[in-house]
Amino acid sequence: MVGDQSKLSIYGKDFDYSVIKGTVGPDVIDIRKLYGQTGAFTFDPGFTSTAACESALTYIDGDEGVLLHRGYPIGQLAENSNYMETCYLLLNGELPSAAELKDFSWTISRHTMLHEQLMSFYSGFRRDAHPMAIMCGVVGALSAFYHDSTDIADPDHRRISSHRLVAKMPTIAAAAYKYSLGQPFMYPDNKLSYTGNFLRMTFGVPAEEYEVNPVIEKAMDRIFILHADHEQNASTSTVRLAGSSGANPFACIAAGIACLWGPAHGGANEAALNMLREIGTPDKIPHYIERAKDKNDPFRLMGFGHRVYKNYDPRATVMQQTLREVFAAMKVTDPLFDTALKLEELALSDPYFIEKKLFPNVDFYSGIILSAIGFPTTMFTVLFALARTVGWVAQWNEMISDPAQKIGRPRQLYTGPTERDYVAIDKR
Ligand code: ACO
Repeated sequence: MVGDQSKLSIYGKDFDYSVIKGTVGPDVIDIRKLYGQTGAFTFDPGFTSTAACESALTYIDGDEGVLLHRGYPIGQLAENSNYMETCYLLLNGELPSAAELKDFSWTISRHTMLHEQLMSFYSGFRRDAHPMAIMCGVVGALSAFYHDSTDIADPDHRRISSHRLVAKMPTIAAAAYKYSLGQPFMYPDNKLSYTGNFLRMTFGVPAEEYEVNPVIEKAMDRIFILHADHEQNASTSTVRLAGSSGANPFACIAAGIACLWGPAHGGANEAALNMLREIGTPDKIPHYIERAKDKNDPFRLMGFGHRVYKNYDPRATVMQQTLREVFAAMKVTDPLFDTALKLEELALSDPYFIEKKLFPNVDFYSGIILSAIGFPTTMFTVLFALARTVGWVAQWNEMISDPAQKIGRPRQLYTGPTERDYVAIDKR
């Protein structure tokens, strides 16, 4: 909705720009004509003040610690919904009826298998390959298998590709894990839930029956919900930018996976658990807090801080609660949980973290719970990618359906040499 006009004074002249209002959240100043009118660009590396798109999917109020998917608070979805229903919500905009959910779950289950030739891609990787490297390669390779659904201008093709990606991701992720162990790949069993099926393909073996533990299934499903979408973060923006050129969805999601891998983003859950292991016992925490505060030391508290949340990440609250439930149900404990709780307590009472508004993010507790379920650290970001795929495809679909969509093309502040003549090699 276009609201007031905003006057910007540049080079001594006034220019009017519309202020656009969303349904909630900060207004945006529409500066699309700025370059044409003033000859100047804006400068915002890291996009700290720039809205790059319009979206109706996910809303975050970082100051209040609020996260809504299509208007529904993440806490309510984590408590009452399930991952398949949340996927439907993100893809279609509304919660499904019972019949719609049944139909959607059935459709997803029809796409869980991988082409046998795709399975042979795995053997090209070294046995010790990081599973995220395998994910980038295998998901990108899906482009070579589904020529029937890569006309991105066709909504049906987009829908089928979206369903394929959501459906195949657990099979691809589980196979990456199996390959690292040297165990046979497990075919999907569509009698099981989306999450139960993933657990069986990951932890089951063909030689034995695998019984899905309902407590683990529920916890895992909730972890998937917590990671399903998160507005215009780095990997989602990567998917949008890749998709803006008209690239096929499989290639775009592979680009998102590559971006997610970084330790400042999805790789933080792996880094957070490694950090907790390095800290070891609560008595060592003060030393690491001092290191995190030391500007000359590159060490940061992993799983702490967030570009958008300047309050407790609401996903971290649910994650901590889920962790307690899993530990109680499995009758296990992990001293790292005590270390994590103590670290949180000490950091949150330290002026450095208070002033900079650094709180635990979703990754702070996720590593402990995933480790308790039995995943090695290298699989943590893979699980994140699996769950985030629905958010990526929903955002990609939203972008492609927007008639105003243009190829993404940021500008730059050039600071290199001005034009100069080429110098022959013997004259340099
Ligand atoms: N430990 C110690 N200091 C920190 C931390 C941290 N975890 N995070 C931020 N700071 C400090 C910075 O040093 C900086 O201090 P300064 O103002 O004195 O220079 C200030 O807080 C602001 O930090 P920035 O890096 O400028 O904030 P930005 O918004 O760019 O970064 C980020 C956010 C990348 C998440 C950062 O907080 C971080 O590196 N955290 C650790 C990694 C992590 O947990 N990532 C997961 C994010 S959630 C996700 O992707 C699902």
